[in-house]
Amino acid sequence: MRHYFIVGNHKMNVSEFENSQEPELKKRLLNTFTKAVGEGHTIVLCPTFVRMEHIADVVDGTGVALGSQNCHWENSGAYTGEVSPSMLAEMGCTWVIVGHSERRRDQCETDELIGKKALAALTNGLRPIICIGESVEQRKRGKTIDVISKQIDSIHSVCGRLMLDASVIAYEPVWAIGTGISATTEQIEEAHLAIRKCCRERGILDMPILYGGSVSADNADEILSCQHVSGALVGGASLSMEYFRSIVESAIRCAHA
Ligand code: PGA
Repeated sequence: MRHYFIVGNHKMNVSEFENSQEPELKKRLLNTFTKAVGEGHTIVLCPTFVRMEHIADVVDGTGVALGSQNCHWENSGAYTGEVSPSMLAEMGCTWVIVGHSERRRDQCETDELIGKKALAALTNGLRPIICIGESVEQRKRGKTIDVISKQIDSIHSVCGRLMLDASVIAYEPVWAIGTGISATTEQIEEAHLAIRKCCRERGILDMPILYGGSVSADNADEILSCQHVSGALVGGASLSMEYFRSIVESAIRCAHA
């Protein structure tokens, strides 16, 4: 049976179930979480920093893990506005997203910096979800595989093989994020296979590889059924109780297929 990772990235939003006025929907979602975790799947919710404790209370007893959308590479110091991996671990966080394309774009994060963040996360016992992916121009120029291989290489050169063993990669083509246009299963299979090969060549044997970019209740079955897809990083759809529940249900279904 396959074991999937389903990660909800709330970005700078408050998800529906945090302040839910619909107890039945909320109960159904929490029951689905409990079922999925009981069957060996990993469910991670990544709210904004200020909602972390609240989310931890909401999912208490379900086995859902808490993740952060970012961290700094140092554990303390004069870094205004930042949050360190040790502080996140202290709050009960066990996962952290690093290298999301929105941060690469808006905060000018480089592969080297992302490698440092992943290393700091690993050193503090957090599992990094390392985001990689090509822009639309890079895809049009036929550079997708080159781009994602270079991203893996840079991060590998900072963290090393042994450290990366505890990480997860999320392949997120930039053009598919928040656009409603997910990559096709052929594009996903091709990229995931290339990532798998690239990791194996560097001695990282069984790195889970998630797909992210407009994953929805409608396409989750198709995406999760792809051979090298180990799960999904879900943005927009993770804010809705019904859509996110449906994606977790897909994971449960696909694992039995
Ligand atoms: P999306 O976002 O599901 O809204 O496309 C995915 C992500 O940014 O991780």
